Formats: sequence, C-alpha cells, structure tokens
Amino acid sequence: MAERVIIFDTTLRDGEQSPGCSMTVPEKLRMARKLVELGVDILEAGFPIASEGDYEAVRAIAAEFPEVRVAALARACTLDVERAARALEPARRPRIHTFIATSDIHLRYKLRKSRQQVLEEAARAVELSRRYVEDVEFSAEDATRTDPEYLIEVCRAAVAAGARTVNLPDTVGYSLPEEFGALIAQVARALGDSAIISVHCHNDLGLATANSLAGVRAGARQIECTINGIGERAGNCALEEVVMAMKVRNDLLPFETGIVTEQLYPASRLLAQLISFGPQPNKAIVGDNAFAHEAGIHQDGFLKERTTYEIMDPRTVGVPESKLVLGKHSGRHALSKRCQDLGYALTREQLEEVYQRFIAFADRKKGVRNEEIVAIIEQVLAGAAQAAD
Ligand code: KIV
Ligand code: ZN
Repeated sequence: MAERVIIFDTTLRDGEQSPGCSMTVPEKLRMARKLVELGVDILEAGFPIASEGDYEAVRAIAAEFPEVRVAALARACTLDVERAARALEPARRPRIHTFIATSDIHLRYKLRKSRQQVLEEAARAVELSRRYVEDVEFSAEDATRTDPEYLIEVCRAAVAAGARTVNLPDTVGYSLPEEFGALIAQVARALGDSAIISVHCHNDLGLATANSLAGVRAGARQIECTINGIGERAGNCALEEVVMAMKVRNDLLPFETGIVTEQLYPASRLLAQLISFGPQPNKAIVGDNAFAHEAGIHQDGFLKERTTYEIMDPRTVGVPESKLVLGKHSGRHALSKRCQDLGYALTREQLEEVYQRFIAFADRKKGVRNEEIVAIIEQVLAGAAQAAD
C-alpha cells in the first residue's frame, strides 16, 4: 500500500506574503474554498500577528471550513502564539505552527541569541501552543544551514514539549537534493516515530520540488507547498509539481496524496486572477504551454499517439485539452487536422498550397491565429475556383 504524504498548503501565508501576492479577506476566502475542493490536508491561512487582515482571514477561514485543518503561523513568543490561538478559536481542527531560526547566521545577526536561548524559547513556545491546541507544528527556520547536531537537539526539545510535526525548512533555497535527503534521513533516525517530519523548500536555485521529493524519499511525510509555486523571493515548492511527480512516477515515488488533481489547473487559474501575476507559459503542469505542441515532428507523433509526447493526460490536471500551436515549425499533418476542425475538406493539392502559403506567412510571425488560417484557405479556394472558370 502506498504511504500517504500530507499536503500542507501555504499559498495563503508564505505565498501571500511575497510581492504582488497580497489578498483581501474575501479573496483569501475564495482561494481557501478552492483549496478545500482541491483536497489539501492542511491550509495555512495566515500569520495572525502580522496584520489585522491576516488575523481576520485566519478566523474567517477557520469558521467557514471546519472540514479542513487550519494552521496559523506564530514566532516562538507568547504574543504571537496567543494571537494565533485567538484567531484559530472558531476552528474545529486548529494547528499552531510556531517557528524560530536555528542557524548560527540567524542567531548571530538576526536574533542575537545563544543556541541555549533559542532551544529554550522553542520548547516554551511549543508548550504554550499545546495549552491552546492539540496539534502543534514546530519549524526550525533555516534548518539546512544549521549545525545538524544542534538541529536535532532543538527538534527533540520541541517534540518533548508536545510538537507533533517537525518542519525542516530550506528557508533560503540553498540545499541540493542529495544533501537535503541526507539531512532529513539523519533527523528522521533521531526522532523515530515521535513526530511527523515535514519539508518546506524554497526555490532560489530552482530545486524546491526536487528537494521536497528527496525529503519524502528520506522519510518526510508532509510537504509544505503553494499553488503556482508562489512565495518569498523565487517562491516555494509548487504543489502541482510535487503532487503530479508522485502520481506520474509512482513507480519510483510510491506515495499517495488526497489531492483531486483535476482541480490543479482551476486552482492555478483562480490564484492568477486574485494576485497580480500568473505562472510563466512554460511552467510545469499549469503553464499555457505545458500541453502545447508546435514542432512538426512532435505534432505528428502526438496526433498518431498522444503518449509519444505527453507523460500525462491534460484532463488529469484539469486542463481541457492539449493544444496544437500552428507556427513555422508545424507540419502538414497538424495543419490538415486544423483545416478539418475549421470545417474545410481540402484536396491534397489544395492542402499543399495552403501549407506552402502558411509556412511563408508563419515564418514572419510568432504564431498563426485561426482567422489567418481561414484567410489563407479562402485565398487558395478562390484561386482554384478562378482556375476552373
Ligand atoms: O521559509 C521558512 O523558513 C518559513 C518558516 C516560517 C516555516 O516560511
Ligand atoms: Zn518559507
């Protein structure tokens, strides 16, 4: 039986706190509804101490969606934990997610605290959180640049204080997959089954998905991720990528999630509508070109058998159909299909002439629209009619 990986969505927290992504409370509620339909296990709704809006959003989402576990973020201090607990009051399944940085670089320059102080504050914050909720997650910020021995000490203290989930973020997207996997395996060995290990990878080197999957293979059973990979700087691990990697390559990644994959594209579109940008066209899974084919050889193979050039059926991620983009790289086969789709039954000679004119036209353009193809066909048909007169 495939093991379950918990999908912890932080689109509305880590995602929302990045440039161009802020959302109002009603917008967050709309997105939360879609995330619930998508089937995320945990929905991190905000950082209640950060603003009144974040506080209100956590409260509203907790009240509106009792079926989902709602998480609120808090630094490892009394004020933050109490504010998170208050925001989560309406929740049926609340989680307080408390964090503190553990790397020497953060301790020296940002927190100006000793390792002992940070360890004690982590344990105290978890203990305080447990007075309010059963389900507490502890994150060791900048875990991947932390001395592993000390990291394990802090994680053990958090678990002893009552944390059920221990998250090891690659906060600055610095780690490489093998290295990250080894760190997760080391912490997993040290903690045994006293806590669920979670990964939270940023994408500064474009490795967030690879690192998250390496973490799961090494023993992590929760992935923190966002729709379209939005998040601080280069973003977080993209939810749609890790989920589809585990589904498509289940032979090597024998894990399952509760995600309704047909909702991935609708969730991506809704988010793009709510924030100020969408995914880049060549974004895996949800980009405009993710299921588009322009090269003649690819179009020919695709038209003969879809799986020659597609590793997943677009409908499994909610994309209605693949696109054959007609441009200068396209072949006769794709053009002939488009002519039929546009309602024209052409002879071989007519199709050849349309093709020659089309290629000459496409050579000067980025892509050719259906109206332009119709105009070319009509010219060819008009020429043929004149010749027959
Ligand atoms: O990147 C990070 O370390 C975080 C923590 C707050 C979990 O977002
Ligand atoms: Zn983060």
